[in-house]
Amino acid sequence: MTDQKFNIEKPYAYEIKGGTPLRGDIDISGSKNAALGVIAAAMMVDGPCTLENVPDISDIHVMFELCKSLGATVDMIDIHTYRIDPTTINTYKASGALVSKIRASYYLMGALLGRCGKASIRLPGGCNFGDRPIDLHLKAFRLMGATGAKMTDIDSGIVNLKAEPLCGAKIYLDIVSVGATINTMLAACKAQGKTEIINAAKEPHIVDVANFLNSMGARIKGAGTDTIKITGVPVLPGNFTYSIIPDQIEAGTYMVAAAVTGGDVTIHNLIPTHMEPLSAKMREMGYQIEEGDDSIRVYKNSPDDEIYPTSVKTSPYPGFPTDLQPQTVVLLCMAQGQSRMHENVWQNRFQYVSELTKMGANINAFERVAWINGISGFRAATVEATDLRAGAALVCAALAATGTSYITRAMRIDRGYEHIVKKLTGIGANIRRVNVEEFSEDNEA
Ligand code: UD1
Repeated sequence: MTDQKFNIEKPYAYEIKGGTPLRGDIDISGSKNAALGVIAAAMMVDGPCTLENVPDISDIHVMFELCKSLGATVDMIDIHTYRIDPTTINTYKASGALVSKIRASYYLMGALLGRCGKASIRLPGGCNFGDRPIDLHLKAFRLMGATGAKMTDIDSGIVNLKAEPLCGAKIYLDIVSVGATINTMLAACKAQGKTEIINAAKEPHIVDVANFLNSMGARIKGAGTDTIKITGVPVLPGNFTYSIIPDQIEAGTYMVAAAVTGGDVTIHNLIPTHMEPLSAKMREMGYQIEEGDDSIRVYKNSPDDEIYPTSVKTSPYPGFPTDLQPQTVVLLCMAQGQSRMHENVWQNRFQYVSELTKMGANINAFERVAWINGISGFRAATVEATDLRAGAALVCAALAATGTSYITRAMRIDRGYEHIVKKLTGIGANIRRVNVEEFSEDNEA
C-alpha cells in the first residue's frame, strides 16, 4: 500500500491539546522491528507464507515496496495480514533510494545472500543517533565466505556480496548487535554446514525472527540466549502462517504516556515480561503497575503520591531498551529530585533534549549521560520530532502539558506507531494531524 498516508516525505505536524489524564484501554500492534526482520526472512523462503499481526506503519510499507522491487509478490489480505510469495524474486539487487529510507533494509543482505548467493544492497538509512556502522554484519558474511564484505569494498554506497558457496562459520560479535545477529542468522539458515553466533543479541524480535524461520523449516537453536547455533538447510519449504509478536516499544511508550499524564490506562496485547525493565523502573518511581496475562495497567494510587527520581542505564535486552530512553526521560522529568539517564547503546541519542527544554524540561546532557531535574509540569510548545522515538517522547510531554503543542515532522513518528492519533484519542487525548498548510509558527502556544 503506497497511498498518501504513507508518504513519509510529506511534512505534517501533530497538534496536541494536553493536560488531560489518559484513561481507558489501548491495544498494542505487532512489533515493528520483529516484522521488519520477519519480512526480510520471508524473502528466503522457497514457497509462500502468510504473516499476521503486521503493524500498519510506514517502515513496514517501505519494506514491502522493497520486497516487491526484488520481484516478490506481496498481497494484502487485510491491513494486518499479508500473503508473501518470494518465489517470483528475479534480482539480488536493491540499490534504489527506498533502501536508504529504513535501517532494516540491511537484512536484505543476509536474506539475498542466503537465497541467491549474491546481494547488492545500498547502505541503509534509519534514525540518526551517531555512527551506525555495519562492520559486524560484514565480518560475519566474510567469515561465511562472502567476497565484497570489507568496508573498503563498498562502492558508491553499495555493498556487493558474493559467496560461492556460503559456508557456516563460528562468528564472535565484538559488540552485542541486534542487526548483525539477525543478518547472520538469515544468511546461516541456507549456508552449508553449521554456524555459531557468539555474543548474540537476545531481543524478543530476534527470537521472533528465529521462530518464523524455524516454522519455515530452518534449524536454529538458542535464539534468546547469547549463543545461537544454526544448521544450514538447502530448502525452506514455507507454506505457513505466522503471527508477529506485540511491539515492546509501542507498549512502553503508552505506559509512559499514561503515567506522565497522571492517568489510568490498561495496555492490552503485550507480553509483560518484555516490559519488565520499564515496569521495574516505574515501580521504583512510585507508579502502580498491575500485570495481567497479556496486559499492564498503569496508574497512581493518589494524584498526590510522590514520584521518586531514579537512575537508568540502557543496554541490550534484557537490559533497559534504548528505544524507550527518550520517553523515559520525559517521565523522569516528573520526579521530585534529580534522575540520571545513561545511554550505553548509541553515541548520540540526546538530540531531542533541546526540544524538550522548550517544553520546560530541565536537563543537562553531556555525551552519553543526562541529568534530569524534576519540574512541576511541561508547558506547551512547538517542537520538532528529531527522530522516531524522540518524536514519541515529545508526544508524551505534549499530552502532559497544559495548552496546545505542535510536534512537527510527525511523519517520523508514524514510521513506528500504528494509528497513533486514533489510539490516543481512544484513551481521551486531544490530538490531531495538521498539514503544513494549516500549520504555521503563529500557532505556537
Ligand atoms: C536495532 C533497532 C533499533 C535499536 C537498536 C538497539 C531495528 C530495525 N532497529 O538497531 O531501533 O535502537 O537495535 O536496540 O531493529 N554496532 C557496531 N557495528 C555493527 C553493528 C552495530 O559497532 O556492525 C554498534 C552500534 O553502533 C551500536 C550497537 O552496536 O552502538 C548496537 O547496534 P545494533 O544492535 O546493531 O542496532 P541496530 O540493529 O542498527
